[in-house]
Amino acid sequence: PIEINVDEKAGVEAAQRVKIGLYFATWWALNVVFNIYNKKVLNAFPYPWLTSTLSLAAGSLMMLISWAIRIADTPKVSLEFWKALLPVAVAHTIGHVAATVSMSKVAVSFTHIIKSGEPAFSVLVSRFLLGDTFPIPVYLSLLPIIGGCALAAVTELNFNMTGFMGAMISNLAFVFRNIFSKKGMKGMSVSGMNYYACLSMLSLVLLTPFAIAVEGPQMWAAGWQTAMSQIGPNFVWWIAAQSIFYHLYNQVSYMSLDQISPLTFSVGNTMKRISVIVSSIIIFHTPVQPVNALGAAIAILGTFIYSQSCYNFEAGNKLMLCTIEDGS
Ligand code: 3PG
Repeated sequence: PIEINVDEKAGVEAAQRVKIGLYFATWWALNVVFNIYNKKVLNAFPYPWLTSTLSLAAGSLMMLISWAIRIADTPKVSLEFWKALLPVAVAHTIGHVAATVSMSKVAVSFTHIIKSGEPAFSVLVSRFLLGDTFPIPVYLSLLPIIGGCALAAVTELNFNMTGFMGAMISNLAFVFRNIFSKKGMKGMSVSGMNYYACLSMLSLVLLTPFAIAVEGPQMWAAGWQTAMSQIGPNFVWWIAAQSIFYHLYNQVSYMSLDQISPLTFSVGNTMKRISVIVSSIIIFHTPVQPVNALGAAIAILGTFIYSQSCYNFEAGNKLMLCTIEDGS
């Protein structure tokens, strides 16, 4: 009987691994598609405030329909839930719009190289704002992350300050999103999918007035005409694709958070960025100098070293920093 138990355990573990592998593959694939259509749209229609609003609107609509036709359970949420979600949504909105503004100004690969530095922001915010301290290896892992990002930035052929700052603001905002999420959502039992649905809806409400104030219908109408005359009716499908895939990749990532540890999630997120960087360079023929690629590789390697030092830290039962990376 003991052998059967061992076999059963191995079977369950293998099935779990396959499931997580499928989540990861789906998450990365959806993310690559989003990034490509998002950039195609922004190249023809440079209104990132509108496109980021549309992504949230498409997600909100898809979830409202899913609840109405009962393919997803409607969450039972209280006023307390929405109150706890508000700071998370503010940070999510800022991080999302900042990343989209960044991608409207620079190559997708550049935005994601800078975004691979998110762990460094996590450590710095926890250290200087929350007063957490970490073991030396965690601090040391920041050197390649920061150094690699800096090298990639100074050697970027199409450097643009707004593009750079947008990615940096997005990093900072997403660290806060994860901290607020962790602090406020404890004990609230909402599935990953519904949590992300509510986050999209609240963010949509927050972002819409700002999008109208910053860009507004007049700019959008003129830009729309130009894009339609250049691209033709396919442009509508590009917009639909970027909006729908934005929701889908985020939904899958939040669903996978129900299944995996925050640490595994953050390693998966870095690997996601590698797929996006490589595929966008190929598709958009982004010029890359060897020293530029070296900077990106060092930054990404730094993120893996960071995860490893978190892991050792975690093994010592002092879970802090690495769990901030999750978003659940
Ligand atoms: C966005 O538009 O929100 C960003 O592309 C998100 O980036 P991330 O989900 O890859 O961190």
